[in-house]
Amino acid sequence: MSNSIDVCLSPKLIDLYDLEGKIVVVVDILRATSVMTTALAHGAKEIIPVEKLEVAKEYLTKEGYLCAAERGGEQIAGFPLDNSPFNYMKDNIKGASIVITTTNGTVAIEKSAVADQILVGSFLNLTSVAEYIKTQNKDVVVHCAGWKGKTNMEDTLYAGALVERLQSTHALGCDTPHMALKYWEAVKNDLQQTVADSAHAKRLNKLNITKDIRFCTQIDEYDVVPKMEGTSLVAVK
Ligand code: MLT
Repeated sequence: MSNSIDVCLSPKLIDLYDLEGKIVVVVDILRATSVMTTALAHGAKEIIPVEKLEVAKEYLTKEGYLCAAERGGEQIAGFPLDNSPFNYMKDNIKGASIVITTTNGTVAIEKSAVADQILVGSFLNLTSVAEYIKTQNKDVVVHCAGWKGKTNMEDTLYAGALVERLQSTHALGCDTPHMALKYWEAVKNDLQQTVADSAHAKRLNKLNITKDIRFCTQIDEYDVVPKMEGTSLVAVK
């Protein structure tokens, strides 16, 4: 196997990984990358992920943009959109240019900038992303967004699921893909209940956000591959 896959469990660790010439798959299951996947699957023209709230605020007065902002799981006042996938399935999403800033997901995308390709992964498009990667003949790093620098359960499980699907084409880069794979294999048949017990699921529940968690743990709901092209995330499949 000429290619390898590695897993970075937190944006705080990403500088330890050489991303040059590689494909980085950014994952934030609850909920940023699930939202981005859902929006593109429902016909959004592009997603513009921005790390800084101030930058996102500048788009509020610009023509032609739908703006979304979330911090700590909550919608930011003044922004028409939050970070719930259910708000990215309506007619206003078709053909839309969506600017989005979130607590962790958009940070991980910004910190992946030197990669050759940046893809966005979620359970919703797991197989589509895996099959696309198999056509690219490149090393892969899965970049888990985590929570404010800490590792989280759901992104690590996604990394394990992707490692499992790429085992025939990508050698495991170091111990982290092994750990993620073993964790995935241990709980994959009980994924929804496992993630329902995660720290962020509990955080969202406190905000009366429940159905998003079940939705974001569905596998292969969509056949879409989100890829950064310039400053925009677009569907390349
Ligand atoms: C994030 O970026 O941290 C998450 O997407 C937060 C959330 O949506 O709850």
